[in-house]
Amino acid sequence: MSDGKAQSAAAPFDADLEEQLGSIVGDSHLLVDPDVVASYESDWTGRFRARARCVVRPGSTAQVAAVVGACRAAEVAVCVQGGNTGLVGGSVPVPGSVVLSTLRLDEIEPIDEVAGQVTVGAGRTLASLQQVVRPAGFDVGVDFAARESCTVGGMASTNAGGERVLRYGTMRAQVVGVEAVMPDGSVVTRLAGLPKDNTGYDLVSLLSGAEGTLGVITRLRLRLVPWFVARAVALVAVEGVSEAVELVRAARQLPSLEAAELFFPAGLDLVCRHAGVNPPFAAAHPAYVLLECADRDDPSDDLLAALEAAGDIVSDATVATDARGRHALWAYRESHTESINAEGIPVKLDVAVPLAALPEAVAKLPTAIEAVAPRARLILFGHVNEGNLHVNVLDALDDDEAVTEAVLKLVASYGGSISAEHGVGRAKREWLSLSRSTEEIAVMRSIKSALDPAGLLNPGVLL
Ligand code: FAD
Ligand code: MLT
Ligand code: ZN
Repeated sequence: MSDGKAQSAAAPFDADLEEQLGSIVGDSHLLVDPDVVASYESDWTGRFRARARCVVRPGSTAQVAAVVGACRAAEVAVCVQGGNTGLVGGSVPVPGSVVLSTLRLDEIEPIDEVAGQVTVGAGRTLASLQQVVRPAGFDVGVDFAARESCTVGGMASTNAGGERVLRYGTMRAQVVGVEAVMPDGSVVTRLAGLPKDNTGYDLVSLLSGAEGTLGVITRLRLRLVPWFVARAVALVAVEGVSEAVELVRAARQLPSLEAAELFFPAGLDLVCRHAGVNPPFAAAHPAYVLLECADRDDPSDDLLAALEAAGDIVSDATVATDARGRHALWAYRESHTESINAEGIPVKLDVAVPLAALPEAVAKLPTAIEAVAPRARLILFGHVNEGNLHVNVLDALDDDEAVTEAVLKLVASYGGSISAEHGVGRAKREWLSLSRSTEEIAVMRSIKSALDPAGLLNPGVLL
């Protein structure tokens, strides 16, 4: 392997490697049966797929280090996989590589209630972490629909965003410490979680959002936020994206505002069809905004006052405070991803533009896509406050390159990001220069080749 371009298929097959891996993790955690390995070989959408050599499931940091060491010696690439819910092909192996599954790294230490932090294994799912911290009055600052399957290691590695970013920031803002196995097999441990610590390069931040290209995260120290039980959700019908942005601008005055999500009739139709639910309003509207407030005391008065102050911007609204009603409203938004997939494999593009440009960008997207894929169906939704749009294009797999180019170039023309929260993965690698300068990409390459000169970890992801 050399120059970060390792492709394991090219490496000589060394049968000893399986023997070594089996002795490191125990034979029951080395998966070689093609039928069993298959579920690790394709991504959540079914768009990306490749044959792995085997899957290895280490149960400790020491085992991860030994696995990385054995693969490095055998010159076989390692592809890191958490919950495999990533949407840019980053969790899918390259042909002939070893898939390193983190799912057994799920230990959790007692909550540090004084610091308001917890140290947790990278393979723990978000939902199972929520179940532990919420009864103690804490919550995880990042949340989204893949919570039952996505791991905290995957969330950190993609710097996941989700539905609470306007209040708590992205995953990088939650990660205050990290333990990782580096490509040379060494273990970097920085788990103190000190809020103030200016002793040199910030390795914790560097590994967050690195998409598994610089190290295998084995443990994380996460800051926790208060768990607010009192919640109010409003689903608001508006005339368009400008009105949605205005509404969110006004609602942002509420300190309890936690989420502001956007969707449109095309997505709502799919959700109603595939999730088997009725539309929220008697009539269809051009756009919908879901707002959630959370506080110590019932925030519904604040939320209702904000809706009233918004006046004509609100065409219609429905509010829920009880858990069942809130979940029903959230389902209209959170069922989008699965409902879109139920229609077919989409070209998924996760982008962001400056908030002021959001209405114009949304208006231009259909024409830009139609010009290159006339039969394509566009389903848009996203996180309004961050100008983050999920551009899902159905019936366009034959034109995926042209669709990707059209959307990403439009976004770049607004100074936007070609990846707001899902990462670059394999899907957007070729387009990185639309969001990052030549000089920035050169620095990233230098970092990659300094830490992983052989290109052992996640070849083909990001760079
Ligand atoms: P995987 O998919 O397994 O991996 C993702 C990447 O991280 C890969 O490059 C992988 O190699 C790397 N990786 C995984 N674990 C480690 C580790 N321990 N060390 C080093 N590298 C690692 N994302 C958002 O940001 N916001 C959303 O609102 C959102 N909603 C979603 C809703 C649904 C229904 C689905 C299916 C996905 C959604 N996602 C969202 C995508 C999101 O990226 C993932 O859900 C999550 O962050 C990935 O976690 P994972 O454990 O599944 O990682
Ligand atoms: C979401 O916000 O629901 C996601 O990021 C998932 C998607 O883009 O489909
Ligand atoms: Zn999202």
